[in-house]
Amino acid sequence: MAGRLKGKVAVVTGAAPRGEGVGNGMAVAIMFAREGAKVVLVNRSVERAEKLAKTIKDEGGEASVFAGDVARADVCEAMADFTVKTYGRLDILHNNVGIGAPGTPETVTLENWNRVLEANLTTTMLCTKSCLPRMKASGGGSVIMVSSIAGALGLMGSSGAVAYSTAKAGLHGFTQSVAADYATQNIRANCIVVGSVHTPMVAHMGDEARERRRKMVPMQTEGTAWDIAYGAVYLASDESRWVTGLLLPIDGGLVALRTWPR
Ligand SMILES: NC(=O)c1ccc[n+]([C@@H]2O[C@H](COP(=O)([O-])OP(=O)(O)OC[C@H]3O[C@@H](n4cnc5c(N)ncnc54)[C@H](O)[C@@H]3O)[C@@H](O)[C@H]2O)c1
Repeated sequence: MAGRLKGKVAVVTGAAPRGEGVGNGMAVAIMFAREGAKVVLVNRSVERAEKLAKTIKDEGGEASVFAGDVARADVCEAMADFTVKTYGRLDILHNNVGIGAPGTPETVTLENWNRVLEANLTTTMLCTKSCLPRMKASGGGSVIMVSSIAGALGLMGSSGAVAYSTAKAGLHGFTQSVAADYATQNIRANCIVVGSVHTPMVAHMGDEARERRRKMVPMQTEGTAWDIAYGAVYLASDESRWVTGLLLPIDGGLVALRTWPR
C-alpha cells in the first residue's frame, strides 16, 4: 500500500469485468484499494463483484459490494447512500460503466442507439448526480469519466460505431460542464480517453483484428487495464488537486495523430 488515496472512499461503477481477465473497472478498483482507498464495487452482477471484493480483501484492501443497475435513478441514490452509511464519506466517483454496439446512422437500430446512450451517458449523469451532494458534504471530491478514442476520433471499422462514438464524445462535454460548475466547490471532473487496451470487453476480437488495432497505435503496442488504472489513481488523488476539465488520453499516442492511420 503506497497510501496515495489513504482516508478516501471511492465508488467504481461496473467494477467487475464481464469475463475472465482484468477489465478497466477491475484494475481501477484494485489500484484504488492498494493506494489505501475504501472501495464500493458497483455492478449488476453480484457474483462477479463479490469475487473482485475477495481479491481486494485477500491483498489486505477494503471493499464492499453494491449490486444494481446504475441506469436507474433510485439505484444510484441508494448506491451513494450505501457508500456514506458504510464508510462515512464519499470522495471519488469512477464512472466506468459503458457498452458499445455496431452501426452507422443508416444501420444502427433505435434500440441499440438508446441502449448505448443510456449505458454510457445516462449512467454517468445519474451516478454523478447522486454522488455530488455527498462529495460536497465530505469537503470535495474527484469525478472521473471513462471515454474512448472513439469519442475523440470516431471508430474506424467495417460496421461503424456511431452510437458509441457519440456517447463517448458526450462524456467529454459532460466532464467539462461538471468541471466548470463545481470548480469553486473543490470538486474536480476529468475524463480518461481510453485507447486500444486488451480487456474482457474486447475478448471477442480475433487475432487479426487485434493485430490491426495494435499496428494503428503510434507506440505499436497494446495497452492494458493497468495503464488506465495508473491514470485513474492520479486523477483520484490530491496529486491532481489543480487539474479539472482534463480529457486525458491513455492510448499509446493515437489521439495525438488526430486521425486514424491508414
Ligand atoms: N476495453 C477497451 O478496449 C476499451 C476501450 C475504450 C473504452 N473502454 C471503456 O472502458 C469501460 C469498461 O471497461 P471494463 O473493462 O471494466 O468493461 P467490462 O464490460 O468488462 O465491465 C463493465 C461491467 O459493468 C457492468 N455494467 C454494465 N452496465 C451496467 C449498469 N447499467 N449498471 C451496473 N453495472 C453495469 C457489466 O455487467 C460489466 O460487468 C467502458 O466505459 C468502455 O467503453 C474500453
